[in-house]
Amino acid sequence: MTETQFTPRVFSGIQPSGGLTLGNYLGAMKRFVDMQGADFETIYCMVDLHAITTWQDPAALMHNTRELCAGFIAAGIDPEQSILFNQSQVPEHAQLGWIFNCVARMGWMQRMTQWKDKAGKNQQNASLGLFAYPSLMAADILIYHATHVPVGEDQKQHLELTRDIAIKFNNDFGVDFFPITEPVIEGAATRVMSLRDGSKKMSKSDPSDMSRINMTDDADTIAKKIRKAKTDPDALPSELKGLDDRPEARNLVNIYAALSDKSAAQVLAEVGGKQFGEFKPMLAELAVEKLSPISSEMARLMGDQSEIDRILARGAERAREITAPILRQTYEIVGMVGAGSD
Ligand code: TRP
Repeated sequence: MTETQFTPRVFSGIQPSGGLTLGNYLGAMKRFVDMQGADFETIYCMVDLHAITTWQDPAALMHNTRELCAGFIAAGIDPEQSILFNQSQVPEHAQLGWIFNCVARMGWMQRMTQWKDKAGKNQQNASLGLFAYPSLMAADILIYHATHVPVGEDQKQHLELTRDIAIKFNNDFGVDFFPITEPVIEGAATRVMSLRDGSKKMSKSDPSDMSRINMTDDADTIAKKIRKAKTDPDALPSELKGLDDRPEARNLVNIYAALSDKSAAQVLAEVGGKQFGEFKPMLAELAVEKLSPISSEMARLMGDQSEIDRILARGAERAREITAPILRQTYEIVGMVGAGSD
């Protein structure tokens, strides 16, 4: 266990590999916004190096990175208060990632469920980058000595690996250099599921656009998607246990709760007994009310690309003030000639 006191520092990242969904907003960005402030330094990253572990069209990658940046700001991330940047512009991520490729073991990587899911049956044809993905993720976090990492449930295993890498590095070199990072896992309530299948996560890569609400959808589209969302024929229960085995009903209630900053139990106390025919228009109205200011601010920001690029460049510069010394110290610990002061 580490004895060193590390500055309370939050790091998290989102891949610019497609459009932003309501799932990204409620599951990640809204929580990132809440963590800004006095208790932590907050650092948020568009992980473009991670995105290219699977094929990305170059023009689409550029568009998605800028749109993600616009989304962060529109959702309430203040680029002065937080550090906001894209990963490729801070080379220390990839540099520490290489060191960690030499610390992590093949067996650790082979156990990663996201690797197994994403590589599928044809592992031989997956990129080497996809296999090393978790090691780069550990570098993202540890190059800041970040202590807290807000992520979804599906990233828990990667955070455990990050701890294993930090522990092995510290042991191998007899140092107390990397912190043992605390995961801040989102509760099930903020996990937004597909509108077509309550057992699947809402995803930008789902082939059906009706399965998700995109942050760029207009009011009519949002209302239509909610109206057509899969449900069951029963009325809403007035207590949580009435949502057991009703994943689609639970999802819509959770979305309503997250958008209105209430608990699911509070929402059910208000809407219990209503049919979906009545609840869905309420949800649609709430979603439009909360999301349209964000999507119009995103559109406004996207109208001034040079401003976005300036914000990202400034973010990268501030990030490097933290990462450059930590990489230099790491190189020194590892024994790279030229890294140290002697
Ligand atoms: N793997 C994360 C995801 O897909 C994205 C990510 C990359 C990340 N690096 C990170 C999240 C570092 C937290 C910290 O959601």
